[in-house]
Amino acid sequence: MADFDIKEDRDIEIPSSLPILPVRDVVIFPYMILPLFVGRDISIKAIEHAVESNKLILLVSQRDVNIETPAKEDLYTVGTVGTILRMLKLPDGRLKILVQGLSKAKVIKYTQTDPFYVGEIDKIIDQEQPKLTLEVEALMRNVKELVDKSLALGKSFLPDIIVLIENIEEPGRLADLVASNLGLKAEQAQELLEETDPILRLKKIGEILSHEVELLLVQQKIQSDVKGEIDKTQREYFLREQLKAIQKELGEIDEKTEEIMELRKKIDDAKMPDKVEKEAIKQINRLDKMHQDSAEAGTIRTYIDWLVELPWSKSTKDKLDIKLAKKVLDEDHYDLEKIKERILEYLGVRKLKDKMKGPILCFVGPPGVGKTSLGKSIARALGREFYRMSLGGMRDEAEIRGHRRTYVGAMPGRIIQGIKTVGKNNPVFMLDEVDKIGMDFRGDPASALLEVLDPEQNYSFADHYLGVPFDLSNVMFITTANQMDPIPSPLRDRMEVLYLSGYTSEEKVGIAKNYLIPKQLKEHGITGKNIKINDSALFQITTQYTLEAGVRNLERQIANLCRKVARKIAEGKDKKYNISSNNLSKYLGVPKFLPEEEIQKDEVGVSTGLAWTEAGGDIIYIEASIMKGKGGIRLTGQLGDIMQESAHAALSYIRSKSKSLGINNNMFSSNDIHIHVPAGAIQKDGPSAGITMATAIASAFTGRAVHKNVAMTGEVTLRGRVLPIGGLKEKALAAKRMGIKKVIIPKRNEKDLEDIPKYIKKDMQFIPVETMDEVLSNALKKPSRGKKGRKK
Ligand SMILES: Nc1ncnc2c1ncn2[C@@H]1O[C@H](COP(=O)(O)OP(=O)(O)OP(=O)(O)O)[C@@H](O)[C@H]1O
Ligand SMILES: [Mg+2]
Repeated sequence: MADFDIKEDRDIEIPSSLPILPVRDVVIFPYMILPLFVGRDISIKAIEHAVESNKLILLVSQRDVNIETPAKEDLYTVGTVGTILRMLKLPDGRLKILVQGLSKAKVIKYTQTDPFYVGEIDKIIDQEQPKLTLEVEALMRNVKELVDKSLALGKSFLPDIIVLIENIEEPGRLADLVASNLGLKAEQAQELLEETDPILRLKKIGEILSHEVELLLVQQKIQSDVKGEIDKTQREYFLREQLKAIQKELGEIDEKTEEIMELRKKIDDAKMPDKVEKEAIKQINRLDKMHQDSAEAGTIRTYIDWLVELPWSKSTKDKLDIKLAKKVLDEDHYDLEKIKERILEYLGVRKLKDKMKGPILCFVGPPGVGKTSLGKSIARALGREFYRMSLGGMRDEAEIRGHRRTYVGAMPGRIIQGIKTVGKNNPVFMLDEVDKIGMDFRGDPASALLEVLDPEQNYSFADHYLGVPFDLSNVMFITTANQMDPIPSPLRDRMEVLYLSGYTSEEKVGIAKNYLIPKQLKEHGITGKNIKINDSALFQITTQYTLEAGVRNLERQIANLCRKVARKIAEGKDKKYNISSNNLSKYLGVPKFLPEEEIQKDEVGVSTGLAWTEAGGDIIYIEASIMKGKGGIRLTGQLGDIMQESAHAALSYIRSKSKSLGINNNMFSSNDIHIHVPAGAIQKDGPSAGITMATAIASAFTGRAVHKNVAMTGEVTLRGRVLPIGGLKEKALAAKRMGIKKVIIPKRNEKDLEDIPKYIKKDMQFIPVETMDEVLSNALKKPSRGKKGRKK
């Protein structure tokens, strides 16, 4: 575009009258060479005139570019005299000329306006050339540096111009040279043109340049920011926002679009696995195409809500500090050493190996021994969320796995519901009462549980409702059960069983003093200053006010005491209440349970059995008596099927052994036998009373008394073998409570003796037996002389 010729001399002669060429949108500086396209009539005429004479013409800028035929007033008065170096007629009638600026000049007056402007002009000479003072030199250097900077920031200059600028020594020319190459706005350029002080001109151009550099810097920053920040999501966001804006502009945006956008955002935030995200987006697209009030849209909406609210990638960080965990466990539970040990081992392994598979712990024990609360405690020790779900009475597989979405009102299964409730994907998840899980035509929830509990499968648990797999492998599952037997064996196989047997009265007193009383005091807003429950009172509560293996009712009775005391204090009777076994009944009423009356002497036809009940171990007496009849058998005392069968088997066995027992065979056919188990209102069942019934029957038929301080437990077969039973610890506890000295147990239960605390085994003899003969020889008294069985 512009070029420069330094050979031109500023002392050039300028005539006093010249044709005038109005130019638009550009200001020509002296020494500047540039091509111009000329189309207006007055301009063409002026040029033609100039070319015919001395080729000189005055180039003056127009104030307003939009004016087609400018009047005199529309033109600036100061312009530049230029010489026309070349002229070319274009086919469309326009001219292309190449002009070079020579010197600034001012129009004094117009002497002709038609067919082109002619004016009387006056050459403008710059003010006195200043010496190269320090200030001038600094100014010049500043301008040169700014040019360099803007060049580095991407401003384009012709390479020749850069060299020229580098070498120029004259401030005025430097200013003009830079000004003519900056692409300034016309007014700005005109202002510079009119400035006759070269130093001032240089200063102005300096200002303009530094502004330009700043602009370039900002521009560059914006560009790099934009490049850096608009990554994928932002790009999408941008596009979506734009789309929204466009739709709004077109009046198309409605609730639905807004909802869909919101859902998309939620999907982004949920950080789902790819597969799930794909599904979610697919569903959104379906929703997008639907009428928003349709029933199906509602279903899809609920489904998407489920997807976005599940904690696909939200989890808590495990606290793996073993010492701290031990402290937490001890804080919450008394004793239970073996179980705490096992839990700490688990944590230890977890600490060494991050992603550990299983094991699934299963706490088995009677009610109220702390199974559920242990689970909570583990969660607390690990810093995880806790969720408890009861499987009791569950019969429908869909409760675990959910219903397919084609069902009306379909929902995810309870596992997924629980995960959503806690909002984390690694809670301690307690499946309570696995032994109470049922089964019917609606499927088998237990087999659905298999998948949940199998570490090899549960990383992709398939809930029917979700339809996409959810990773359960970080969940710590703990199950609880009261009994082991009813748990389906494939399920039992996957779990590591930890037994919590009931507590002895001594242990209960310990739990009460250290855990239950402080807890209840706090709950009732009283302190140890208000109430003191001594050990004898606590002991009495455990034996006479509660009948349980655990401590739930004990806790209830303690709460009861606290409540009564709290009330008295609230009524103004503020003092310390000491509760002992002497005044306990004042607070709790008369004792509810009295110990089973001990048999006073060895009796015929009564044997002592040990039973396992939901409430722990208990003692049962089995009575057998014979009377005239036809060989019938009567069983009373609410015996279940298994127990009845067991009674028949016992009788058959005794009959088969009548000879060696010295019983006359006629006895059986001419008598009826009646077997009764007292506490008749309570349902009893199970095979473990087999040997006890056989003993009572044998005693009744032989007339030999049963030792009163011998108790027994064991199943009997028709051939008189003694089979193992469960719940030995509870049974031993019950025996201890009743002051029994000898306990007959099946040989195969001998190994279980290890688990029974020493203090229980003290003063008690356990007699492992394999056959019914051994039972009888230990339980029955020697026949008194001369009386070998009853004969009738
Ligand atoms: N060893 C113990 N130390 C302190 N408190 C205990 C102990 N054992 C049980 N408890 C308390 O007894 C109460 C009942 O316990 P929990 O509810 O855990 O029983 P559970 O074994 O789950 O019974 P269920 O089989 O009926 O569900 C809780 O308040 C618990 O804190
Ligand atoms: Mg429980």
